[in-house]
Amino acid sequence: MPNPKYAKPDTMTNILAITSSPRTGSNTETMLDVAISALESRDAHVEKVQLEKLNGGPCIACDGCVKTGRCILKDDYTPLNDKIEAADHLIFATPIYFGSMCAQLKSLIDRGQPFFEKKYNLKQPSPTRPTEKKCLVLTCGGFKKIDEYVKNIEQIMQIYCRCQDINTLKLISATAARETTNPAHNPMLAKAAMPASMRLLRTTLAPNQVQNPAAKGIT
Ligand SMILES: Cc1cc2nc3c(=O)[nH]c(=O)nc-3n(C[C@H](O)[C@H](O)[C@H](O)COP(=O)(O)O)c2cc1C
Repeated sequence: MPNPKYAKPDTMTNILAITSSPRTGSNTETMLDVAISALESRDAHVEKVQLEKLNGGPCIACDGCVKTGRCILKDDYTPLNDKIEAADHLIFATPIYFGSMCAQLKSLIDRGQPFFEKKYNLKQPSPTRPTEKKCLVLTCGGFKKIDEYVKNIEQIMQIYCRCQDINTLKLISATAARETTNPAHNPMLAKAAMPASMRLLRTTLAPNQVQNPAAKGIT
């Protein structure tokens, strides 16, 4: 069950925005901040979480979640999963590392195994919500042919989203050098993040939104 501590008012869209870059004030975090500002300007309630400030580790495959659908590890990622489940929409921001998401985010994604157990083994229904839950993924890499480096991220997130009955997944990528002195002044980051975050709030699918192809057929 979602932690009641994180219950939200019904009238407001509640968005959980998670940045996973180990660098504070980085390109990745800047993309997320642009998205948050845009969403807050439309009265969405956004909670920002910086993974680097939390104490959480990867899944240890202990099967502790198999019977209850709840992780037994006593670190910050267990209550964070409650927030993830309770949120109306999710945003994840990650730098691209070796053609994938950074290890910090992958740890959190793997800790989503309770979502898998709840859906496929325990057959527990997902929480009902006023609108369909959506997931936006913001990625930033250093190389120009960025599409080549986001395929793994998209596949991982498709599987993750399916476990939570999230059928609408949008991935936005931008290119920015790691040594950018002030990412907040990089127009490419804002250009990528702003319209994507606005689309997140729409209840109907925009034409270029990625329908989750993993929504049918996996497992
Ligand atoms: C360990 C490591 C691996 C990286 N691998 C890639 C990569 O495969 N493709 C890419 O486009 N950029 C890669 N980069 C560059 C970063 O993704 C890029 O500089 C990004 O803007 C960093 O985000 P940050 O500002 O949030 O730290 C890598 C950087 C690091 C540190």
